[in-house]
Amino acid sequence: MINEKPVQQLQEDEARAELAQLADLLARANAAYHTQDAPIMDDAAFDALRRRNSEIEALFPNLKRLDSPTEHVGAPVADGFGKVTHSQRMMSLANAFDADDVAEFLAGIRRYLGLPDDASLPLTAEPKIDGLSLSLRYERGRLVQAATRGDGAVGENVTANALTIADIPHHISDAPEVLEVRGEVYMTHADFQALNDRQSAAGGKPFANPRNAAAGSLRQLDASITAARPLRFFAYGWGSLSMPLSDTQMGAVGRLAQMGFSTNPLMQRFDDLDALLSHYAQIESQRASLGYDIDGVVYKLDDLALQARLGFRSTTPRWAIAHKFPAELAWTWLQAIDIQVGRTGALSPVARLAPVTVGGVVVSNATLHNEDYIQGIGGDGAPIRGGKDIRVGDWVQVYRAGDVIPKINDVDLSKRPADAARFEFPDHCPDCGSSAIRDDGDAVRRCSGGLVCPAQAIEKMKYFVSRGAFDIDGLGAKQIEGFYNDPDLPIKEPADIFTLAQRDAANLTKLKNRLGWGDQSAQKLFAAIDARRSIGLDRFLAALGIRHVGEVAAKLLARHFGSWAALHQAMQDAQDPGSAAYADLLAIDGLGAVTVHSLLASFSQDGEYASILRLAQQLQIMDIAAPSSSSPVAGKTVVFTGTLEKMTRAEAKARAESLGAKVSGSVSSKTDILIAGPGAGSKAKKAAELGIKVIDEDAWLIMIETV
Ligand code: IVH
Repeated sequence: MINEKPVQQLQEDEARAELAQLADLLARANAAYHTQDAPIMDDAAFDALRRRNSEIEALFPNLKRLDSPTEHVGAPVADGFGKVTHSQRMMSLANAFDADDVAEFLAGIRRYLGLPDDASLPLTAEPKIDGLSLSLRYERGRLVQAATRGDGAVGENVTANALTIADIPHHISDAPEVLEVRGEVYMTHADFQALNDRQSAAGGKPFANPRNAAAGSLRQLDASITAARPLRFFAYGWGSLSMPLSDTQMGAVGRLAQMGFSTNPLMQRFDDLDALLSHYAQIESQRASLGYDIDGVVYKLDDLALQARLGFRSTTPRWAIAHKFPAELAWTWLQAIDIQVGRTGALSPVARLAPVTVGGVVVSNATLHNEDYIQGIGGDGAPIRGGKDIRVGDWVQVYRAGDVIPKINDVDLSKRPADAARFEFPDHCPDCGSSAIRDDGDAVRRCSGGLVCPAQAIEKMKYFVSRGAFDIDGLGAKQIEGFYNDPDLPIKEPADIFTLAQRDAANLTKLKNRLGWGDQSAQKLFAAIDARRSIGLDRFLAALGIRHVGEVAAKLLARHFGSWAALHQAMQDAQDPGSAAYADLLAIDGLGAVTVHSLLASFSQDGEYASILRLAQQLQIMDIAAPSSSSPVAGKTVVFTGTLEKMTRAEAKARAESLGAKVSGSVSSKTDILIAGPGAGSKAKKAAELGIKVIDEDAWLIMIETV
């Protein structure tokens, strides 16, 4: 982009022309960065062009333009939207792909609540809008805040933008003191088409689909741009409320409609599975003519008291499910099969495809899972695709379901080239050459190189900086790859991230002068890293990327041990399978032996232990605060035994956990309360011996105030 000719050699007319060009280019780059959220060049290129502009101006002061970039461009980078912590997490939905999944969803609810098979369970059914969710907070009837979903816990403050959406009332009369309305922002097909026509006419890049257009429009730093975009909003739920809206889902959504929100006209209430499924078919048949994108039908239990009893899993409600429409299909050529090495060493085959559009998105890669899958063998050992294997050169059918990675559904053997050979799965890591081993009972072959394998190390770090983990702004997959191989400022393990600024300061060649970096972006990165030096124990554990230790296991461990010091000590003590620490670890409810072994291996001397310690030294790992719940059972370890008569075991456990109690499967000196129903045996005896408080179910219900 930059003119190579040295500034000193420029003629006056060349300088004039170049200054005009630079003024235009830098102004466009600035607008793209600040207001369109779509940079057209990186910081380093921007800085280089600005420097060149200044140099030319210094040599030809008389040519300095009125709209000179030195005067107008380069304002400090706005840091985007403010963050909003949702008063109640914004959840996502579990998916059902067929009628059996829906039947199982209903059966699961009945089991959880202990209801008979024939108990009636009214549910609502409504379209699943393909947009982005938004939470609107009204206080005394006035819209005070609008926030995107973000990671569910923290979203972005887009209040100014939401105020420009016609479907969103600014004031509501007759509203509860606090009312959080949740729903979906979307764009109709007609508005999307018109917007794209305008974008193209103005020389801009068209949006790939209405969902992207809606997301791009809502996330504009300049609300006047959002105002010019035709966004709409359907209300379908709520967050915090100072007063219940109704005692049914249908009633509550009806109230939202009365308050002036748009609600979906296809929402209806049904009494049984068949009726739900026929409404699903009905909505599916209307899909093409609705005028906006939907990708399924959402079923919700209508009775809000039952919804409250069912509660939530870590990210999804137990009382709702999204019944997705079948994925779109397309045929294309399989050009190559590459092997990628993941953070746990798994060798994952990836299909490289001739690009094809599936459901509005261009697909050129698809996952092939593992070697059995390529050979036509499913997870249970039975044939898939009628036993057809997948070969390079094949004509394959690809599908995409929602955000899910594309997959291969079928192979057309009639088009298979005569010379296509069976795919030979490598038995060595393509990256580091270590042998790749497939354990008994595991469908996946893994590189045995551990952190010596660059691919594993890089993938682990990509995971480490990703959104659900350390979430370091400005340090994404691309930067991790760059730093890993950087001779002057390498990041070989997570601890290195936190010494980056210090090492850069000591280096002669600074990060800000590197290709792709500038002063601003380097400073921003160091600040983003510093901002993450303090981290909760649960998030720290999850970020380590230990196999089987995801968000849920990390939370269980963090809750159980409370502090890094306690957990660290336990990891050392529990290396001996005969130790009490080992037994204590295995007794954590919800943590299986496989997880425990994987965790202990990471903390063993020949594991990644040293690298974990180096990281911990750079951080302030925050204790997991005692549960904020004021319940008398918060922080207590409880054990259920015998038969419960008022609720199922699953409900009792979830309820206790939601009040901040730890539920354990076995009685030990750490148990605070044993809830013993009829038929309690050895556990009750042991508790009595240990002097632990034993109560019955009724006493427990009084304690947690549900009677
Ligand atoms: S209910 C706790 N209803 O789908 C219940 N969600 O895949 C949360 N969505 O994050 C959502 N239409 O953005 C609900 N009628 C509908 C919906 C809907 C679209 C979105 C929503 C949610 C995502 C989950």
